[in-house]
Amino acid sequence: MTGNVKIVINGDTYELPVVVGTEGETAIDIGRLRQMTGLIALDPGYANTGSCKSSITFMDGEKGILRYRGIPVEELAEHSSFIETSYLLINGVLPTKEQLNQVSMLFNDHSLVHEDMQIFYQNFPRGSHPMGILSSMVNALRSFYPELQTIEEEINITVTRLLSKVRTMAAMSYKISRGHKVVYPRPDLSYCANFLNMMFDTPVRPYDIDEDLVKALNTFWILHADHEQNCSTSAVRLVGSGRVNLYAAISAGIAALWGPLHGGANQAVIEMLSEIQEDGGNYQRAIARAKDKKDPFRLMGFGHRVYKAYDPRAKIIKKMCDQVLLKLKIADPLLDLAKELEEAALKDDYFIEYNLYPNVDFYSGIVLRAMGIPTNMFTVMFAIGRLPGWIAQWKESIDDPDWKLSRPRQIYTGSGKKRYTPMDER
Ligand code: SDX
Repeated sequence: MTGNVKIVINGDTYELPVVVGTEGETAIDIGRLRQMTGLIALDPGYANTGSCKSSITFMDGEKGILRYRGIPVEELAEHSSFIETSYLLINGVLPTKEQLNQVSMLFNDHSLVHEDMQIFYQNFPRGSHPMGILSSMVNALRSFYPELQTIEEEINITVTRLLSKVRTMAAMSYKISRGHKVVYPRPDLSYCANFLNMMFDTPVRPYDIDEDLVKALNTFWILHADHEQNCSTSAVRLVGSGRVNLYAAISAGIAALWGPLHGGANQAVIEMLSEIQEDGGNYQRAIARAKDKKDPFRLMGFGHRVYKAYDPRAKIIKKMCDQVLLKLKIADPLLDLAKELEEAALKDDYFIEYNLYPNVDFYSGIVLRAMGIPTNMFTVMFAIGRLPGWIAQWKESIDDPDWKLSRPRQIYTGSGKKRYTPMDER
């Protein structure tokens, strides 16, 4: 479909332009709807509304397709590294060897965080959730790194600082929460190996870098790196539209990702599977509850706003579960339970009717558990993976000629005009 569409309102005909994407997705451009007709469009949750044109990630929900800058995520998961994929998302092309080396050196140079930040961490109550800490500390980075004069220089150094320091900040919150000595990044370790070392190295038991786990972590973060206009990415774009600094916009994205309907689902899946296990492994009861409209329970890790087919990322992570557990010689009963639950759900008419399949979060907690990541840090792991996507989307938004302050309208359904009621009349 090309050209225009016509709408008739009170006998008047209006023409609105049609926009067609690379893969044939089609939209009605309502940018002038209110100006032309006095009407607005209403779309709670924006399920039918595109917020922007983007050249970063393509998803086909019906076919279960996911591509970063045109490259299928399956190929990147198999051949790329998280840093290389981050470069691709942010710069639009795969880096040369020289460019990749340059980025690795920059990440090394900027991997430390200001020593004063440790005081911040130590003053969070012990039980603080790592996502709340990460969101606060990323926002605090602006205080330690004031804005540079040239916007180009400011953006490049901020992007480097965020991508490099987020690992250090995440590992630091884990170590301090356990009362352990903070482990510093090492210049001789790759991006993912450094993170695992900062998390698990201790003075009494040096961490033994397992290259299979480093590869699994690269793949895990590649699969989480971007996902077009999801809730947290939209938060980054919306907050960024006010022209606030990137640290603050990313901090908003972390907060949005925390919710159990979004990135917090990976933690919620493990909690759900553990409850089912404690209930004697009765996954049929969980399926029955998920179908019961009177029960607010949802099968966590199932369903998706866009995918109405198997999430391609879940397929890869499911396979990764078997590989990592085999390598570590771990038998996790929750993996067996997850597979039984998936098999039963995919045969159930309700899940078939609603096109509910496992999403990225259904198996990811199993892999993270096997790596030794504590459950309350699962969403932090998602945030580290999604950071390059948030940055790429923010950069695209500030370079977009159509970019302006995001400010949706509403339909008011409250009281009509009435006078102020004095206290003695209430
Ligand atoms: C992520 O957007 C992204 O790209 C996100 C993400 C990314 O990479 O950024 O992919 C990451 O957030 C994955 C999703 C993780 N969340 C969960 O696993 C939580 C469980 N899933 C659901 O809450 C739900 O599927 C959502 C929130 C993910 C999507 O829901 P929608 O698109 O808003 O659909 P809906 O809530 O309107 O549900 C439609 C129907 C409803 O039934 P009716 O009220 O119409 O009768 O499907 C039912 C829902 O009750 N339904 C479920 C269900 N998911 C939807 N019923 C039971 N269990 C579920 N999991």
